[in-house]
Amino acid sequence: MIMTSQGRKCLYWTLTAYLCLQIISFGVVHAQEQGDDVRFDYGDGPNGPAHWGDLNVNWTKCKTGKYQSPMRITPDIMVTASKLGDLDAEYSSEPVAANISINVGYAVEVKVSPNSGLLKINGVRYRPQQFHFHLGSEHKILGHSFPMELHLVHTSEEDPNVRAVIAWLFVKGEDSPFLAQFDGKLPKPDSYPRIFSLPSITLPKLEESYARYQGSLTTPPCSEGVTWTVMLWNFPTISERQIQMFKAAMPKENVRPSMPSHGRRFRIHADS
Ligand SMILES: *[C@@H]1O[C@H](CO)[C@@H](O)[C@H](O)[C@H]1NC(C)=O
Ligand SMILES: *[C@@H]1O[C@H](CO)[C@@H](O)[C@H](O)[C@H]1NC(C)=O
Ligand SMILES: [Zn+2]
Repeated sequence: MIMTSQGRKCLYWTLTAYLCLQIISFGVVHAQEQGDDVRFDYGDGPNGPAHWGDLNVNWTKCKTGKYQSPMRITPDIMVTASKLGDLDAEYSSEPVAANISINVGYAVEVKVSPNSGLLKINGVRYRPQQFHFHLGSEHKILGHSFPMELHLVHTSEEDPNVRAVIAWLFVKGEDSPFLAQFDGKLPKPDSYPRIFSLPSITLPKLEESYARYQGSLTTPPCSEGVTWTVMLWNFPTISERQIQMFKAAMPKENVRPSMPSHGRRFRIHADS
């Protein structure tokens, strides 16, 4: 290709303008990060899951961790584990007070008092902190994706960095009485004030059949040392109306892609 000097100049300025735009838009993103809660997203762009590990020095586990969540649960990693025992989780049977905090379009988090429940795993006592919703399941079970996955996040009484998360997967069907408690109460995306109090929430009643594996938080900093309990069988239902209600509150995608199992097993406890 022969290029006139005019053409070369034009190409030079086009490239410069392009680079300038890149730098400017990087600056904008960076400024947002410092001033807002939005630091990562679920898109294909520079803040998406493939790059979480590079966005912050404290998030390297997102790319180097070998115990990352969620996982794709396939038959080859499933084992029956008789030693697990029944799930030892008890939540207050009385309604508890809760706060819904920050809705940045992909996260509605409901904070509860640590006294509202107790989960025991291998002698470690965990207390509930918050639960939140993923629209579309993060865990894929035997190739199935579910319309909603709820995460109940607990921390150890001894060390708040040691966590246990219970995942509750919903199948499509009737209205969920548990989710019906949020009718008309979900904050709009980016709404202020950022904390809404809920005077009374009845926490879920969990069955005893579950599976367990060692994983991580599914959002940055992707911290590991998280003991996962995935409830299996008797999946609760969510209606189309409820899916739409949550979609209106969380219009942005919030499902992290499956992470490699790296030899981990999904240990199943079936109620006998
Ligand atoms: C990383 O974590 C440390 C310790 O919590 C904190 O002081 C530091 O500001 C964090 N760095 C960034 C870039 O967020
Ligand atoms: C909810 O927020 C109020 C006001 O900040 C606080 O007093 C209360 O302890 C919070 N409750 C929970 C369960 O986090
Ligand atoms: Zn989650």
